[in-house]
Amino acid sequence: MIDIHTHIIPYVDDGADDWATALALLQQGEKDGIKAAVATPHILSEIDYRLEPEIIKNFKELKVRAEDAGIKMKLYLGCEIYVQPDMTLEHTLSTLNQTGKYFLTEFPMNAIPRFVAEKFFELIIADKVPIVAHPERNIGFMSKPMIAYEFVQRGALMQVNAPSLLGKHGEKARQLAFTLIEHNLVHFLGSDCHRPSHRSMGLREAYKVIVDNWGTETAKNICFENARKMLNGESIEIPEPIPIEEMEKPSIWKRVRTFVNGR
Ligand SMILES: [Fe+2]
Repeated sequence: MIDIHTHIIPYVDDGADDWATALALLQQGEKDGIKAAVATPHILSEIDYRLEPEIIKNFKELKVRAEDAGIKMKLYLGCEIYVQPDMTLEHTLSTLNQTGKYFLTEFPMNAIPRFVAEKFFELIIADKVPIVAHPERNIGFMSKPMIAYEFVQRGALMQVNAPSLLGKHGEKARQLAFTLIEHNLVHFLGSDCHRPSHRSMGLREAYKVIVDNWGTETAKNICFENARKMLNGESIEIPEPIPIEEMEKPSIWKRVRTFVNGR
C-alpha cells in the first residue's frame, strides 16, 4: 500500500513534533504494510513556500534517520496545498514526487470556494492534475456530493482519509466516503497521519473495508496502483464516474400535508 497523504516531517507543520515521533509514525506504518509514503506538509499560502529549504533539508534527514533505524518504507516528497486563487505550482514541493503533474490540495473544511472550479480548469488545461484531499470531511461536499462528480468529470481526482472509512472522523464523513467510492469518485487513500497516538499511520483496516464492499481490484487501484502511477507522473485511467442522485427534500406543501394528516 502507498500512503499519499502524511505529515511525517518534523518541525515544519502541525505533524510529527520531533524525530522520535516521525520515526515512530514510520515504524507504525511499516508494521501496517505501507511500502511507500509521500510526505505532504501543509502549505497554507504562497508565502509558506519560504519554508521550502527547511522542509527539503528535514525530509532528507528523515530519510537518513529512517534508513539507520532499519525502516524499508520508500519516502517521497510533496505537500498539501491549501487552495488559494493565486496558487502556483512552480515550487519544488508543489507537485507530488516533483513530477510536475499531480498536486494534493485541501479546501477549507466548511465550504468549497467559488474560485476553485475556474482555478482547477486553468491548471488542468496546463496538464496539472488536482488531487482533492479528504473531500468526505468537507461540509460543502457533504451537503452537495454531486459537486464531487462534477470535479472528477472535469479532470480532478479524489483522496479519502483511511480513518474516515472507519468512522473515526464521524458518521457523516464515513457515509460520504462510502458514497464517493460507490460512485467511482475515489482514486487514492491516505492516512493524513500526524502522530502515532492520535491520527496514526495506517491503511490496512480501510483497505479491508474497500475489499469487503467493492472488491480487491478497486482496493488495489485506490490503495496502490493509482498511487504508483501518480508517483511516476504517468496518466491514470479511472472508472467512469457515476452521478450522485441527491435526496429530494420534501416540498413545503408535502410537509404541511404530512403534518395535517398526522403522517
Ligand atoms: Fe493533511
